[in-house]
Amino acid sequence: MSFFYRNGTLCAEQLPLDELARRFGTPCYVYSRAAIELAYAAYSSALAGREALICYSVKANPNLAVLSLMARLGAGFDIVSGGELARVLAARGDPGKIVFSGVGKTELEIEQALLAEIRCINLESEPELERVNAVADRLGRRAPVAFRVNPDVDAKTHRHISTGLKQNKFGVAYDDAERLYARAARMRNIEIYGIGCHIGSQLTDPAPFVEAAARIATLAARLEATGIPMAHIDLGGGIGINYRDESPPPVAEFIAGALAALGTNRSGLILDPGRSIVGNAGLLLTRIEYVKPGAAKSFLVVDAAMNDLLRPALYEAWHEVRAVREAPPGATPIAYDIVGPVCESGDFLARERQLVASAGDLLAVMSAGAYGMSMSSNYNSRPRAAEVLVDGEQAHLIRARETTEDLFALERILP
Ligand code: LLP
Repeated sequence: MSFFYRNGTLCAEQLPLDELARRFGTPCYVYSRAAIELAYAAYSSALAGREALICYSVKANPNLAVLSLMARLGAGFDIVSGGELARVLAARGDPGKIVFSGVGKTELEIEQALLAEIRCINLESEPELERVNAVADRLGRRAPVAFRVNPDVDAKTHRHISTGLKQNKFGVAYDDAERLYARAARMRNIEIYGIGCHIGSQLTDPAPFVEAAARIATLAARLEATGIPMAHIDLGGGIGINYRDESPPPVAEFIAGALAALGTNRSGLILDPGRSIVGNAGLLLTRIEYVKPGAAKSFLVVDAAMNDLLRPALYEAWHEVRAVREAPPGATPIAYDIVGPVCESGDFLARERQLVASAGDLLAVMSAGAYGMSMSSNYNSRPRAAEVLVDGEQAHLIRARETTEDLFALERILP
């Protein structure tokens, strides 16, 4: 593993976290290059021998250094905005390997995607098909498209991150797909590339993923029979990671199940994983400001908060918290809630954790590499944390800590 104790101190690869805290300050996101590469390798080896493209889902962790690592590994990218497109291009990602999902693409974003010559726009509605056709017509181009089809499969995950049910806003209805494809095939500025789906995130059971693959494969075969080409099938992302004791089966098992469900289908396969690439490759390093004992509860008030890591507040997500210095033998742990300085009762990083802790100690909030920094904000006028990528014995500052001036640099006082 990339995060382990050596001589009583938690390290990221070869570097002790207390040294990183001294060098870069806290709160600070710390990522391991080796862990990211290992997670990617799990996908590439499971897909060996099949025409396949791994489109890293940028929203999970869009730092340019992470994107350029992915690009160097040969990955493509799953984007959901013009901002993410610009990031991928800035990180020298190959536009020919970009797929663009999302229910609300603007005309400008569609134009940017067409001009960049991305691989595929994943359409999520009929009005969007019309808009893409119109923009492509105006630019004198043909737009490469697929429909994101909603397979109506229950992903059995948190309701906020389940996306493949009929009541969700995502994708086009399964029963509507054939009509929409037939219409798209008649449009002058549309070129059909394939079909896609994404049923939700943090899947810990392969069954819904495999069921979605089977339903999409059935539809793809029906479409091909009517002469509509299916160069690729995009099964989305969503493979879960271990935060606590979820123990999802290895990525290879999800993929083997999906490949079996695709059967004799020979279309290229696209997957867009985010969390399973970067989630367990990152942690949030924070320092205890105060130990605050109380009658009902005791608190560790730390210098990271919900604005840095929103997942606990938003989804009641559980992240393991480790003391950077291992407790001396015989010390008695106490149950603490670990909270930030933000003025909300929902501002917590973890609850009821047994720790031996003093003010000034460092804590590591684990499994924070995905949807950590990417969902951070400046709430309470808190500058965003620094980000550091560790590679063996080297630490690279991949995003400087924001300054307080950065916070209002775009604002103007009335004349
Ligand atoms: N593809 C599409 C079309 C998606 O909407 C998503 C995630 C992914 C791929 C990547 O899914 P992943 O492999 O990371 O599960 N903020 C939430 C997660 C939201 C996921 C949204 N869509 C969280 O912190 O748990």
